[in-house]
Amino acid sequence: MSCIIAMAGKGGVGKTTVACLLARIIKENKLGSILVVDADPNNNLGETFGLRVKEGLSCILDEIGTDPKIVPINMGKDAFIEYRVQSAIIEADGFDLLTMGKPEGPGCYCYVNNVLRNVMDKLSKNYDFVIIDNEAGLEHLSRRTIRKVDTMVVVSDPTVAGLRAAERISKLTKGLDIEVKKEFLIINRCDNNISLGKPEDFKIKYLGFLPIDPEIENFSRNGLPLMNLSSSNKTMSALRKLGEKIWLCN
Ligand SMILES: Nc1ncnc2c1ncn2[C@@H]1O[C@H](COP(=O)(O)OP(=O)(O)OP(=O)(O)O)[C@@H](O)[C@H]1O
Ligand SMILES: [Mg+2]
Repeated sequence: MSCIIAMAGKGGVGKTTVACLLARIIKENKLGSILVVDADPNNNLGETFGLRVKEGLSCILDEIGTDPKIVPINMGKDAFIEYRVQSAIIEADGFDLLTMGKPEGPGCYCYVNNVLRNVMDKLSKNYDFVIIDNEAGLEHLSRRTIRKVDTMVVVSDPTVAGLRAAERISKLTKGLDIEVKKEFLIINRCDNNISLGKPEDFKIKYLGFLPIDPEIENFSRNGLPLMNLSSSNKTMSALRKLGEKIWLCN
């Protein structure tokens, strides 16, 4: 059974950072096979791993949606979509990466999206862990990727406004066509003395905080892959302590 972990949160709070570091910790702890899915149309998860992504899956799906004739006659549309998804996967050291990309076409490819969800369901069963990085809005999560999430990690900045936004996002996920088994709040870029109120009053189960991290800031400024952060990195250490609740899915 695969454990599906999805990131949520408003813009710029650290979703991609947390997704990358979680993948790195799961890999280093040899907990199982990992598929990382970049479901943000402004995809940059690959870069955090130091990987260059040529084209996202959306380009391929746009092609099929715009011109169904590109599907080989002897193959069938479903099999063709599945084949193209497989070929869009980048095999990296210790994990695979699938980048969804930005849909460019004008149409609504409902059929393609439905098939894609089936393919994603099937694909995720091949991995022990599926980590999905999302854009700030969550609509596409149900539209294009997955039906079930074991752990939704809602990331917030250490502000009251950020926390309220996180709570709104959490409420929104409940209205989507996704089954979320458990959900945790992580407050990122935060020191110990937060004055956001009592965690027990938060509307999302509070897991803990991650520190303001000069090493991450430096890596980000210089476009360096987070996979190369020092192993004593303080955010990695903090996330290792929080992590088990995230990745223990059964
Ligand atoms: N704990 C931290 N300490 C310092 N800088 C951080 C920390 N976490 C994230 N950052 C930096 O904050 C910026 C935003 O982080 P990130 O890209 O992970 O956010 P995001 O939620 O994925 O953003 P978006 O909504 O645009 O996808 C990046 O420059 C990242 O390096
Ligand atoms: Mg991001």
